[in-house]
Amino acid sequence: MTDRVQAALVGCGAIAELHRWAIEESGAPIDIVAAVDVDPARAAAMAAATGATAYTSLEDAIASGTFDAVDLMLPHHLHEAITLRCFEAGLHVLLEKPMAPSLDACDRIVAAAAQAATVFMVAENAQYWPEVVTATRLVAEGAIGEVVTARACAFIPPLADFYGGEDPWRFDPVQAGGGLAIDTCSHWLRPLRMLLGEVVEVVGELGHPFPGMRTESLVRSLVRFESGVVASLDALLTSATLAPEVLFRITGSEGEITVEAAGTCTLTTREHRRGLVVGEAAGYLMSYPGEFVDFAAAVLHGTPPAATAAHSLGELRTALALYRSADTRRWENVWE
Ligand SMILES: NC(=O)c1ccc[n+]([C@@H]2O[C@H](COP(=O)([O-])OP(=O)(O)OC[C@H]3O[C@@H](n4cnc5c(N)ncnc54)[C@H](O)[C@@H]3O)[C@@H](O)[C@H]2O)c1
Repeated sequence: MTDRVQAALVGCGAIAELHRWAIEESGAPIDIVAAVDVDPARAAAMAAATGATAYTSLEDAIASGTFDAVDLMLPHHLHEAITLRCFEAGLHVLLEKPMAPSLDACDRIVAAAAQAATVFMVAENAQYWPEVVTATRLVAEGAIGEVVTARACAFIPPLADFYGGEDPWRFDPVQAGGGLAIDTCSHWLRPLRMLLGEVVEVVGELGHPFPGMRTESLVRSLVRFESGVVASLDALLTSATLAPEVLFRITGSEGEITVEAAGTCTLTTREHRRGLVVGEAAGYLMSYPGEFVDFAAAVLHGTPPAATAAHSLGELRTALALYRSADTRRWENVWE
């Protein structure tokens, strides 16, 4: 074991570029030594940006024996097979969310991780979102009294890197396992779980307003937490020009905490009627570096990460319960 993680980036698409940046930005002791993608141009571009060796085959990359960890950034239907192969090879695994589109596949991944006894983390960057971390601290300190309700809103534009091209895999229920509920909503639900505790049940409606997208591009839902608090969780993919938005609004008996798209966390109370910005303005992108600091510490020092891989099943199970709810038109239990 060296004092730096030797890592392969597997899947050199849209999120890989953000991961490359975040690894550098975080200063985490991680060397990117292999760039793997079935698309030779993508593997080559990532290799050129990092000094890594490019591979178009994961098997060839594993055979090189040059890395002890992989960062898997692949379409959802590939998560299970490739994660299992990496555990079989004795590698540490950072896997992009969702762990897999079905709970059966997740069970098999968790079992393989236990057998490999290497580090397994699911890359839920929202766990490290600076304004959310600040808001969570404020709630815990009682800054707004007792939490009464909360609203989370993920209205997003179709960025070309993620939604561009001819019929992207995200539009296909087979490859993606679902739309915004299983994908983007995880980054809004994790903060709600940090702020409000564990989720219990969900009810909601789904829609398909985005042209060509066969998975849901509209989510309107209510989520009940163990505390009894009910929060709304909404998401929309839209080409419309979006007005300035509040991403999270947590309302308590004594005031409100808001997280704005501009990268601020604001506390509004009787004492701060015009709103007090708490902490440095950071923004959503600054949620990524923290996951690499955590992953490297887990690999090198055995430090437990901020959240276990199994914890990410809370977001996946909520999405699956929401899909059931859209059919039954009833509240659905997340954990049944
Ligand atoms: N945390 C976040 O904020 C965030 C944001 C976007 C995507 N994601 C997640 O990241 C993952 C990837 O999403 P993306 O938007 O980067 O997708 P993408 O389509 O841009 O990239 C996926 C890449 O995988 C490559 N690939 C496909 N099959 C392969 C194989 N067998 N071996 C190696 N490479 C292969 C493709 O050629 C492509 O370059 C998904 O799990 C997604 O949910 C997370």
